[in-house]
Amino acid sequence: MESFLIKGGSPLRGTVEISGSKNASLPIMAAALLTRETCVIRRVPDLSDTRFMVQILQSLGAEVKFAQGAVTIRAEKLKPHADYELVRKMRGSICIMGPLLARLQRARVSLPGGCIIGARPINLHLKGFDALGAKIQIQGGYVDAKATGLIGATMFLGGRSGSTVLGTVNVMMAAALAKGVTVIESAACEPEVVDLANFLNAMGAKISGAGSPTVTVTGVERLRGADHEVIPDRIEAATFMIAAAATNGEVTIQNAQPDHLRAVIDKLSEANVSVKRSGASLIVKRGGRLKSVDVTTLPHSGFPTDVQAQMMALLVLAPGISIITERIFESRFMHVSELARLGADIEIEGPSAIVKGGKPLSGAPVMASDLRASAALVIAGLAAKGTTQVNRIYHLDRGYEKMDRKLRLLGAHIRRVQE
Ligand code: EPU
Repeated sequence: MESFLIKGGSPLRGTVEISGSKNASLPIMAAALLTRETCVIRRVPDLSDTRFMVQILQSLGAEVKFAQGAVTIRAEKLKPHADYELVRKMRGSICIMGPLLARLQRARVSLPGGCIIGARPINLHLKGFDALGAKIQIQGGYVDAKATGLIGATMFLGGRSGSTVLGTVNVMMAAALAKGVTVIESAACEPEVVDLANFLNAMGAKISGAGSPTVTVTGVERLRGADHEVIPDRIEAATFMIAAAATNGEVTIQNAQPDHLRAVIDKLSEANVSVKRSGASLIVKRGGRLKSVDVTTLPHSGFPTDVQAQMMALLVLAPGISIITERIFESRFMHVSELARLGADIEIEGPSAIVKGGKPLSGAPVMASDLRASAALVIAGLAAKGTTQVNRIYHLDRGYEKMDRKLRLLGAHIRRVQE
């Protein structure tokens, strides 16, 4: 297994180019299964998660090529059974269910389990498929969905923690080829949902309202191939913005989409981090001494759960008390005990972490537990005095394209080594 060795204390300076969005790429790649024609998806980040998706699509019978950031998919022949082990490896792969059901009237995928960040049920996905007329059975670790022609319906997809991103996109994809009109109420409003809707519309779908809580899908008989460029990764952009502030540097974030980052920019400004827009770029540096702030994660356009851990790494450095409340995934605080190894003072009280910030951090060996927790540990390591070893960075490789290389270009002392 590989680790990062980080010698902390150097301010990040320079320009970083943001990659295409992982969480937009995964459903868009799955959506290519909705047509027999060729789809080209550009600016797909080269990550283990996008490579997994390529393998899953190939295991379903699609021809897939991934070269120079573009994924070309032709799903002329398709089978409804996904490889159990492949799907189990990546929760995002659940979004092949909607396209399979729409195209073949049958989908059989392994039931994704919970993961380190929470229970992660799929009841809302299944509620949506059921409303479209699919019959669903769970047997032997598989979800088996069958239909004899999906029919548009009005449904409410809100759950205990609000809307569901992959549930919304899964149902949108199934409804794209259903008979009649589907209305999804309490739909997720994340930019990745909008990007998928744009791709589906380029394929000939009729979707309106994406980005709002009510999405309307008028089913069409068939979809055609399309060429699409995915949106920039707003979570990667936020991670580099926070790293710039944490190291007291100055970084230009290039190719970000500032409109997707409003909640993050707002909280950073409150913490006394200056974020200046310059076209599609953002220039980030501290405005003076960091200030403690309270943060609550919420569905978009609220503060993203995928930036909670990184924000905690910054607030550990801000004198005073910050309260960070996690409202999307109940156990997404695995980074707390690891940040403590670097000297952070954080207590968990139910869904909140109370950060007593301002104490100096010093390097230590730490263990990455999930993708965003790992990013938080890298940020803390960059800000700490001395050497931090972040173990198990395969988590980071799932979601950050060439993170070590991008950080080195900004002046960080970071090396990839064998554990
Ligand atoms: N939920 C249900 N039932 C469902 C589906 C979700 O109760 O059927 C609950 C979840 O347990 C959670 C909340 O709804 O409490 C929101 O979960 P959501 O379904 O929106 O999460 P997701 O679609 O499975 C995507 C991203 C996650 C990101 C979340 C929230 C992908 C591949 N994954 O997951 O990204 O945290 O939305 O924004 O798009 C990451 O990139 O590190 C990551 C975990």
